[in-house]
Amino acid sequence: MNTEFKKQILRRIPYGLYVVGVVDGEEVSGFTATWLAQCSFDPPLLMMAVRADSRSGSLIKNGRAFSINFLDKSQSDLAKTFFKPPDRAGNKLGEVEFHTGLTGAPLLELAQAYLECKVVEIVEHGDHHVVIGEVIDAQVCREGDSLMLSDTNWSYGG
Ligand SMILES: Cc1cc2nc3c(=O)[nH]c(=O)nc-3n(C[C@H](O)[C@H](O)[C@H](O)COP(=O)(O)O)c2cc1C
Repeated sequence: MNTEFKKQILRRIPYGLYVVGVVDGEEVSGFTATWLAQCSFDPPLLMMAVRADSRSGSLIKNGRAFSINFLDKSQSDLAKTFFKPPDRAGNKLGEVEFHTGLTGAPLLELAQAYLECKVVEIVEHGDHHVVIGEVIDAQVCREGDSLMLSDTNWSYGG
């Protein structure tokens, strides 16, 4: 295989860019994610790939819930806040206003829309684990085009 082509082609897959809210008991946090897609109409399911070695991955495995916070095209700075692991970024939700949803997952006040999911299955294979979540709540806070990975100069894939 030509690994350079493999990288280039995998990076052509279009993705949105989100802040995923996670919760386990008293601990709430969030991380920037792009590997996310719908995978069932009924029940409404999402699949999301989460780094196996991340703090957020552990929180999702224990807490069994997450939120997807959709951002405006002008909100890439907010996504940037959630790139880093907690040991470098500290409390990532410290400066960011949020309230908690039905599952306890954080919903950002600045989000244009959000979904809230209960984890139904986790497929552990590879360096990211596929978390399948059932959508149990949804809110559109304002209209507008959502931030896409292609609106930024960042890449995640290859
Ligand atoms: C553009 C971009 C997209 C990302 N997409 C994902 C993703 O889909 N899944 C994932 O687990 N990490 C993704 N990350 C990496 C996480 O945001 C990063 O590992 C973060 O530190 C995780 O938070 P945590 O350490 O608090 O768990 C992405 C990072 C960037 C810069």
